[in-house]
Amino acid sequence: TQPERIRNFCIIAHIDHGKSTLADRMLQLTGVVDSRSMRAQYLDRMDIERERGITIKSQNVRLPWAVTNDAGVKEDFILHLIDTPGHVDFTYEVSRSLAACEGAVLLVDAAQGIEAQTLANLYLALENNLTIIPVLNKIDLPAAQPERYAAELAHIIGCDPSEVLHVSGKTGQGVEALLDRVVANIPHPVGDSDAPARAMIFDSVYDIYRGVITYVRVVDGKIRPREKILMMSTKTTHELLEVGVISPEPVPTKGLGVGEVGYIITGVKDVRQSRVGDTITSSVNGATETLGAYQDPQPMVYSGLFPLDGSDFPLLRDALDKLRLNDAALTYEPESSTALGFGYRCGYLGLLHLEITRDRLEREFGLDLISTAPSVVYRVTMDDGSEHVVTNPSDWPGGKIAHVHEPIVKCTIISPSEYIGAIMELCQTRRGTMGGMDYLSETRVELRYTMPLAEIIFDFFDALKSRTRGYASLDYEEIGTEEGDLVKVDILLQGEPVDAFSAIVHKTNAYAYGVSMTEKLHKLIPRQQFEVPIQAAIGARVIARESIRAMRKDVLAKCYGGDISRKRKLLEKQKEGKKRMKMVGRVEVPQEAFIAALSTD
Ligand code: GTP
Repeated sequence: TQPERIRNFCIIAHIDHGKSTLADRMLQLTGVVDSRSMRAQYLDRMDIERERGITIKSQNVRLPWAVTNDAGVKEDFILHLIDTPGHVDFTYEVSRSLAACEGAVLLVDAAQGIEAQTLANLYLALENNLTIIPVLNKIDLPAAQPERYAAELAHIIGCDPSEVLHVSGKTGQGVEALLDRVVANIPHPVGDSDAPARAMIFDSVYDIYRGVITYVRVVDGKIRPREKILMMSTKTTHELLEVGVISPEPVPTKGLGVGEVGYIITGVKDVRQSRVGDTITSSVNGATETLGAYQDPQPMVYSGLFPLDGSDFPLLRDALDKLRLNDAALTYEPESSTALGFGYRCGYLGLLHLEITRDRLEREFGLDLISTAPSVVYRVTMDDGSEHVVTNPSDWPGGKIAHVHEPIVKCTIISPSEYIGAIMELCQTRRGTMGGMDYLSETRVELRYTMPLAEIIFDFFDALKSRTRGYASLDYEEIGTEEGDLVKVDILLQGEPVDAFSAIVHKTNAYAYGVSMTEKLHKLIPRQQFEVPIQAAIGARVIARESIRAMRKDVLAKCYGGDISRKRKLLEKQKEGKKRMKMVGRVEVPQEAFIAALSTD
């Protein structure tokens, strides 16, 4: 296809503003999927995506679209819709998908208006110099307020409200006009067809039958099956076993030229060998310059994962090995805990990534798991000048600490203006510094804060939602590190530290953390044969204390009379119960107590 007849675009939207529904409608209208085989949300392939209603992995599809020109002649175009992951955790993936496009449909729910992710993604799109087509979706809703939000959208991107399109992904209204607008407004791709081939990888998924399927956007030259290619960041060469387009299933082709989007199969077995953001070129006489800098995915949040049943540990290992094939950002290494046994310390891009991973392990691999409180990456410098990178409270160094650096994020919060006070108060208690505030309209406001990431991953989103009756939206991105006054608080049972409960907290929150943990455990741990002190301590200094009084536990006391079989049964039962007990020193703690104490509510 001539580049002049190609349009590459994506849809950017806040979660639930209807991106998948609109994409489905486009598939149907362009005849790529007939209505009979139309399954809801065709582009979201993973079950879990469908169930949670969120898009995790991008999918792209080629759509034929004919437009009648001014002379009344029908012209055929190829539209590549590139589906971007919608969530903050996947910013780098989003930015690569955007880099594969020339334009973006900015989709906003006509009953909700602009939300934090709409803005975050819009900024990313503008950084990539994309042409923006502003669209209000769900105009079929009785609660839709198209005039109001068209004004908001126009204000943000600096256009006239009349240029904002009105569509409904549900009824299909306005979708044809939108496709026409994509052809009319979005520039066609430009590249040098005679130059050495250069294509950018913007997604890569693992398929059990075919190995890794890599999605690419060709910028210069042409890639053909059977050719040898070079992945420029890993410097590995591969043979192109297959090259094709998605429409909506993979269809092999004779090659991909300038501006085209499609997939390649090289036989690699692990998405780490075919990395999002990498540039591919021909292995002989290839290009020397990459298309933009490649960036390794960096875990931002760490947490321990432990099987509830210790004998499931090998299963957990196998499951993680399998997930990793499809998830270049997931890292893990074995970890052992006195309280929770053997497990893995896992690194994630963010909280959602953590939740999704845990969900998949439980659902697809049938594992029951406990995860420990998430932690960020701390850089600790000691008095003697040595440095430690700490992702697990149990690795916190002993000795004199000179200073600690922690990751800082810039967050954007959008909310109805009546909640400004509540939000400011919340951000203040989370060590936030206000960066600015803008009114999007008379009643809605954008607040900008910088804040330690550690404060965000500790139920900040829930707190924000509850203070704004669910109306506020949040987006954040890491902007660097700052020095913080941080300490490690240990929780001790009878003088023995319980590693799973250790936490790194700001000095001003240490006391509160200590008190809440000791109180929780006091309620959760049953009485033992002896008194059990529960303490919270920073180093050797105890900052909070509770104690569980001793009790004589006699299960046989209940059955006076001499029914021996009943007695035996009770003893058996007690033994069963013991299995689920963990010993911390001499103290027996039911596993449920650990789980309950680790949950945030
Ligand atoms: P993420 O994948 O999480 O980003 O969500 P999404 O933006 O893809 O949203 P999705 O298409 O899943 O739609 C979210 C909800 O809005 C679903 O319940 C849809 O049925 C509904 N919805 C989508 N488009 C329309 C529309 O045009 N009109 C109405 N009334 N509802 C819609």
